[in-house]
Amino acid sequence: MERINQLEGLVYMTEINAYLEKNAAKFEEDLKVLLRIPSVSTDESHKQDMLLCAQEVVRQLNEAGIAKAEVMPTPGHPIVYAESEFKPDRPTVLVYGHYDVQPEDPVEEWETPPFEPTIRDGKIYGRGTSDDKGQFIIHVKAAKTLNDLHMLPVNLKFCLEGEEECGSPSLEQWIIDHADLLKADVLVISDTTMYAPGKPSLLYGLRGLSYVEVEVKGGDGDMHSGMFGGAVPNPINELCRIIAALKDDKGHITIPGFYDKVRPLQDSERQEWAQLDFDEEDFRQNVVGAKALCGEEGFTCIERRWARPTLDVNGIWGGFTGEGAKTVIPARAYAKISCRLVPDQDDREIADLLEKEIKRLADPSVEVKVTFHHGGSAWMTSPDAPVMQAASRAAQKAWNATPARVREGGSIPIVATFTSVLQIPAILMGIGLEDEQIHAPNEHLSLENFHAGIKASIYLMQELAELPEFKR
Ligand code: BES
Ligand code: ZN
Repeated sequence: MERINQLEGLVYMTEINAYLEKNAAKFEEDLKVLLRIPSVSTDESHKQDMLLCAQEVVRQLNEAGIAKAEVMPTPGHPIVYAESEFKPDRPTVLVYGHYDVQPEDPVEEWETPPFEPTIRDGKIYGRGTSDDKGQFIIHVKAAKTLNDLHMLPVNLKFCLEGEEECGSPSLEQWIIDHADLLKADVLVISDTTMYAPGKPSLLYGLRGLSYVEVEVKGGDGDMHSGMFGGAVPNPINELCRIIAALKDDKGHITIPGFYDKVRPLQDSERQEWAQLDFDEEDFRQNVVGAKALCGEEGFTCIERRWARPTLDVNGIWGGFTGEGAKTVIPARAYAKISCRLVPDQDDREIADLLEKEIKRLADPSVEVKVTFHHGGSAWMTSPDAPVMQAASRAAQKAWNATPARVREGGSIPIVATFTSVLQIPAILMGIGLEDEQIHAPNEHLSLENFHAGIKASIYLMQELAELPEFKR
């Protein structure tokens, strides 16, 4: 019986491989169509493009044999929801992704225009290639392949949002309101990275986020720095002093209570990560490009990025920044500050602690306002769970390499919402690479990984359909 299954599997894969080869160019072309639409969610002027992009995603879903696909309005940008014809004897796989992208600036640093996808050296360049259009679409193309060959082994649902890059403000409520519609056995997401070229990852943790904006006000207006300097508050000096006090010289964050809920790293996990062939010097030189690496004392580079919380200033502004020198004491100063969080920190709680500490540190001569932008919890699961092992086998087949068991430092806050509201496990099968410049100029995606990703998605659906846990 086992042997018959194996042979059957081989015959299936021969047919599937032939189909994929025949359609490789078309799938790249379809990705390009998506990439040409500047679906920048943070920018109001792109509202129409967001709708156009959602409609194009629906078109490609329909073409994949998924007849029920629609653009569903939200208070913000629309959500694309789709589902394949339901067969009660099959498990249901819910795919999440985002069709919105980050702004393209600084546009002058792109070698080819951000919304004119271009292929160079086996990589496709353009905003959204790696984050996330080129990633989520692999599941749509996998669905098309399996549907066209009448081999789809699972029920599929798609939930593709247009607001991930601005903190998913509409999606959380939408998930709660549509929990019945979204009912599934497992969530699948491709919006992260592989461990290294040729080496997929079995990702079991992401960090959370807590993002605030700080305003410091001194006098009512700008003042001559000679007439007033030395006797009046300078909000930029104040802001810098406050920020500097939020960390000590060992890289520890000094906010009282900040580490209270941090789940400590397991020894076994530290040992496992130490065995990964991570070359810190190569990372410093070729990925980062800085003179040296730095960070919290007592932790390795990998531990600092995957399992420790952070506090970073994303931007700081105020006063005179034009050419030449203007002698002025500015009236206001601003900073955008974010903390990456680990289990079991709470985003609101951390924002509250941060606000309290900033206000405590502030000189009585200034007024300080702290506004919460957005946030979300970290996500963590067991790499040994059955669905994770299914994902591991799928990646192994697609890349012919054993996936590395890793966490990552980035955030997809909605993962924790999905898993807790729907009570299902999540699989994060990323096909990006660390140096693909997401959120930066010259973002790109390896076409080899794009095609391997489609295969991995096909293998994953087959593996999930065979899981004893999901047998009906
Ligand atoms: N795809 C990224 C998240 C990511 C990238 C996770 C690489 C792991 C590895 C996602 O689109 C993103 O950028 N998320 C934001 C969070 C959001 C709340 C703005 C982030 O991590 O900054
Ligand atoms: Zn993303």
